[in-house]
Amino acid sequence: MPPTTHHTARRDRDRPDRDRRDQGRRDQGRRDQGGRRRGGVDPARLAAYDVVHAVSTRDAYANLALPAALRERGLSGRDAAFATELTHGALRRGGYDDVLSRCVNRPLPELDSEVLDVLRLGAHQLLGMRVPSHAAVATSVDLARRVAGVGPSKFVNAVLRKVAARDLAGWLAEIAPDPSLDPVGHLASVHAHPRWVVEAFRDALGGSLEETAAVLAADNEPPRVTLAAWPGRSSVEDLCTEGSARRGSWSPYAAILAEGDPHRVRAVAQGRAGVQDEGSQLVALALARAPLDGPDERWLDLCAGPGGKAALLAGLAGQRSAGLLAVERQPHRAGLVARTLVPRRDRPTRGVLGTLVADGTVSAWRPGSFDRVLVDVPCTGLGALRRRPEARWRRAASDVAGLRPLQERLLASALEAVRVGGIVAYATCSPHLAETQDVVAAVLAGRDDVERVDARPSLPGVPDLGEGPEIQLWPHRHGTDAMFLALLRRTG
Ligand SMILES: C[S@@+](CC[C@H](N)C(=O)[O-])C[C@H]1O[C@@H](n2cnc3c(N)ncnc32)[C@H](O)[C@@H]1O
Repeated sequence: MPPTTHHTARRDRDRPDRDRRDQGRRDQGRRDQGGRRRGGVDPARLAAYDVVHAVSTRDAYANLALPAALRERGLSGRDAAFATELTHGALRRGGYDDVLSRCVNRPLPELDSEVLDVLRLGAHQLLGMRVPSHAAVATSVDLARRVAGVGPSKFVNAVLRKVAARDLAGWLAEIAPDPSLDPVGHLASVHAHPRWVVEAFRDALGGSLEETAAVLAADNEPPRVTLAAWPGRSSVEDLCTEGSARRGSWSPYAAILAEGDPHRVRAVAQGRAGVQDEGSQLVALALARAPLDGPDERWLDLCAGPGGKAALLAGLAGQRSAGLLAVERQPHRAGLVARTLVPRRDRPTRGVLGTLVADGTVSAWRPGSFDRVLVDVPCTGLGALRRRPEARWRRAASDVAGLRPLQERLLASALEAVRVGGIVAYATCSPHLAETQDVVAAVLAGRDDVERVDARPSLPGVPDLGEGPEIQLWPHRHGTDAMFLALLRRTG
């Protein structure tokens, strides 16, 4: 394939974002038969571009930037779904850069960032969505003209015509390594994940490449929005009625939203329910359900921000006259926890002992003060890649080792905080063995005052939890984030 002639892109840097948005609003309502806005680009593609560009140039988080962009452009229903799929696909498929680099005659980083992002969005429409080629190319050219100028739009036209010459399978046949020679590299290319992540999943799945392929594929599926009804404040029935949601699969507090903005559900808007993956709900539930002899009154969440598990735990604690202390080191995240747990400052909330901005590795309480402790440590988040499409390309293998000392210190601190006979739940939103089993093993090594508790009986009805005693949830098995949970009891 001959390389495309490159150009000197004229960037429209000086035009403030607001002007572009105003233009977007003026464009609304003037649509031709190809789904394009006359004289402009449709708002769904503009919203997707805004987010992809903010992620690539300003390190924005798509899960925060996208809802704002949808609101800004007034998108809902099918248009919002289209913008979401386009954004997530373009960000997930870092692999499109391999395709694009075969259609451009210079290194991609040398392209103007506006042009590269338009190409990524175009590539996803051509290779990952059912947008007809002519519409994908034409709308991308319009978008390039708008965000980068006329010259770059011609360049985009030429490159995307080359991309459109094959489908995704055709490109992968050229790009992906031979599976018999390099099975991990093959999976990494086909499912658009970095190699080190594929290796981590494979190791956590006992070496099964078949299951590794399944979890990688699940990571590329659009995630469902799951809500949690916080006990004592709302019920799943409320969510199902108000939010046209259906019951979750495993947690009695989960409801799965059919579509739309979760914040339009009254219970969520009023702070009586939250958005929370079912895997996170199961972790909190397993801790609350683990059998305990003796008092069951004082609970601790050592890493509480932004507060999803703390809210569920506090609701469960309130049902049995126990109370939760929620600790978080970062003040702004501790603020989120406080807003969720103590919505009325003038009134104590049932099930809440308090919230505290503190370093959980330095106890602000006497040893053995708590009956149940959750330590949901900071981790790579490899278990939630479905929700954070750009995260897989931002994280690096070296992050794992960097987080390890803190994870070990926090778990040791949790074991210090729990009374003899009490339970600690060590949780991560990552299946990476170095963040899960290895941390537990390292902290327990040389200690004879802690025993592992089989967590599986605390989640009756949830299949495929493994051989225990720890639990590893998986998107492809359970439809949840890949949460890990170890339950540990202080014995002396
Ligand atoms: C995985 S998140 C917890 C998520 C939370 N359990 C939830 O369900 O919403 C880990 C949290 O630990 C906090 N953290 C990090 N180091 C900490 C420390 N030394 N002490 C307390 N919190 C810490 C981070 O700021 C982050 O909010």
